[in-house]
Amino acid sequence: MEKRDVLTLRDLTRAELHEVLSLAAVLKQERREGRQRPLLAGKKLALLFQKPSLRTRATFDVGMNELGGSTLFLGPDEVRLGERETPADCARVLCRLVDIIAVRTFAQDIVAEMARFGSVPVINALSDLYHPCQVLSDLLTLQECKGRVEGLKVAFVGDGNNVAHSWLLAAEKLPFRFILACPEGFEPDEEIYDSVVAGGGDVAVTHDPGAAVSGADAIYTDVWVSMGQEAEAGGRQDAFAAFQVNRELVARANEDVVVMHCLPAHRGEEITDEVIESRRSVVFDQAENRLHAQKALMVWCLGAGA
Ligand code: CP
Ligand code: NVA
Repeated sequence: MEKRDVLTLRDLTRAELHEVLSLAAVLKQERREGRQRPLLAGKKLALLFQKPSLRTRATFDVGMNELGGSTLFLGPDEVRLGERETPADCARVLCRLVDIIAVRTFAQDIVAEMARFGSVPVINALSDLYHPCQVLSDLLTLQECKGRVEGLKVAFVGDGNNVAHSWLLAAEKLPFRFILACPEGFEPDEEIYDSVVAGGGDVAVTHDPGAAVSGADAIYTDVWVSMGQEAEAGGRQDAFAAFQVNRELVARANEDVVVMHCLPAHRGEEITDEVIESRRSVVFDQAENRLHAQKALMVWCLGAGA
């Protein structure tokens, strides 16, 4: 079997994406019934993280343990990736020790280099450019609460960032309609956006949040200041002030709209406390689904079948 890295959602075909989502739903149901299958018995996962994390780290850790495997966590101060050791050398060492690697880092090139030099699958656990594991879990959440993802309208209100980029790729792949409302100057990466348009994706970018959410089945938001952008915080707070997901904005969407956020949330900034606590919010389902989606992804990457 060819090595299966997941550096972006492009690494999965539409059929494979469906396969992973279906397996995630099955694993979730089995877990609810108190049944866990040791599909990755004896396998070891290295978690190499250069940025903080709650959900990603916890769900990979719990997930691998539930599948019968174990994990090795390597934080930023231990490895000092790119500073003490090149990503290539790090990958060549780790792949002698573990069966699969999840990397959370800054530049996408680092994830790509680790995948190129490592002989075991590498999963992108968030980079500056993409967050495939998050959007995989979000698709599972939408599937559960809307019964389908294809044909829905998803409005992303916020930064054209890593999470938005993964949504763009998903929109092309499945497909569904995806509109991003952002302030001028915070549009998604042009190359990614243009490639999705060229691939026939039904996507758009606007600077009008109200227009974006009109007729939306889901409203998504994320922090205005991503990890690594802390120095830009002041300017970003000002630029994004009119892009808050609040009661007035939600009222402009479909009546049964769901509100999504990858978390962590900054209440009072990109989303109000009222909206995130409302019955429309599915943020904690999204967080739980990180577990099921990443278990399925690891099983797929390792060709463990289910
Ligand atoms: N949503 C997400 O990736 O959360 P963490 O940064 O806590 O892992
Ligand atoms: N865009 C955010 C996502 C956090 C899960 C960040 O990169 O910090």
